[in-house]
Amino acid sequence: MVKMAELNRPSTVTPHRYYAHITGWGMCVPEHIFSNADLSAILETNDEWIRTRTGIQERRFADEDQTTSTLALKAAQQALSLTDVLPSEIDLIIVATCTPENIFPATAVFVQHWLGANQAGAFDISAACSGFLYGLNIATQAIRSGSIKVALIIGAETLSRVINWEDRGTAILFGDGAGAVVLEAREEEGGIISTLVRADGSGHDFLKILTHNHPEIRSKAPFSDLKIHKVYMSGGDVFKFASRILGEAVREVIDRAKMSLEDIRLIIPHQANARILQAAARSLNVPESLLMSNLERYGNTSAASIPLALCEAVREGRIAAGDNIVLVGFGGGLTWAAAVVKWMVGEPAVDRRKEGRRRAGYALVKVRTRWYRVARFGRWFLQRILRRRPLDE
Ligand code: UT7
Repeated sequence: MVKMAELNRPSTVTPHRYYAHITGWGMCVPEHIFSNADLSAILETNDEWIRTRTGIQERRFADEDQTTSTLALKAAQQALSLTDVLPSEIDLIIVATCTPENIFPATAVFVQHWLGANQAGAFDISAACSGFLYGLNIATQAIRSGSIKVALIIGAETLSRVINWEDRGTAILFGDGAGAVVLEAREEEGGIISTLVRADGSGHDFLKILTHNHPEIRSKAPFSDLKIHKVYMSGGDVFKFASRILGEAVREVIDRAKMSLEDIRLIIPHQANARILQAAARSLNVPESLLMSNLERYGNTSAASIPLALCEAVREGRIAAGDNIVLVGFGGGLTWAAAVVKWMVGEPAVDRRKEGRRRAGYALVKVRTRWYRVARFGRWFLQRILRRRPLDE
């Protein structure tokens, strides 16, 4: 006899146990470097203050023709190039961003279309600097349940476009960029071992970007006097929260993985401020070198900062197959999130034949767009003709 529980199980979920492994990673930063000296030319600030208070030396700003979705696409293409995955094999695309071009449609659907990922679902996540790890968590659970096999998770930002240039306290912090990982289902034990996602909405006012739909904006005119679509941050409040939560989240997620700090080869935190990383190292009682930092070159890239730092850590040889690493993020919301990853990949071998197929698909995007439009029209036209027929025909 079939048990009730079996009847209720969704058909796509197989009872098999899968692990979610990172098999590809990629990043894209704009070429345009904006140094502390460049900032001092337009703001009342100086290199010494920025370096000593934040650790940042320079950041990248997107060019006119670059957008959050084009940066996301480049990072995704690079991540895919290290894997055997063809775009048509991707089940889910998640983009974490707080600087989308649209409220909807999601940034992720542009990436889906440009990649030719015709079997994928696609959506954005709004969880500020924790967004990439929120996405990693969702995709991991979907893989572990057996409902999907391949996910692409991207953190992408063009924060240069939401900087409030009248606020030197925040204007010096942010930069643009994107980072991506491919997550694949494997039977081999490893990959994402434990995750943690949390929020404390009582701190919603500490870090925010308001839209036209915000009551404060709707009730006050003229709009030009207000800081719509610009970052506001209560730096001190966020600083105190971040310095505390980083260490706490690392301990909790390691505990969930049934590991201890000694098992961890590298911690990759959200890159917000060098002093926050120092405070975390002190509270965890670990050397500062255990915490990856590339803040000096990119500044705070919000949702992109963790995958960017991950890519650079791999490139610098700071992670090898078999290592356990911790990813940890915190930011607006307030939100925070973390993951323990057992890194299972060695030097990736690029399959040139597959890369050729992927590139051919990318090049055909314009043809695809036209073809889908024609096909949609054709389907609509046929349906109209069929509907005109008498029912008994
Ligand atoms: O990604 C999400 C998470 N974000 C974060 O974690 C950011 C957390 N917050 C921070 O990193 C720091 O709070 C900031 C870097 C934003 C600010 O540093 P701070 O040490 O908290 O500086 P402050 O705002 O308390 O300002 C100290 C002084 C002030 O002068 P007075 O009032 O003491 O005379 C500011 O006016 O520094 C002055 N100041 C500056 N001086 C030169 C503030 N910004 C600047 C500047 N250049 N850019």
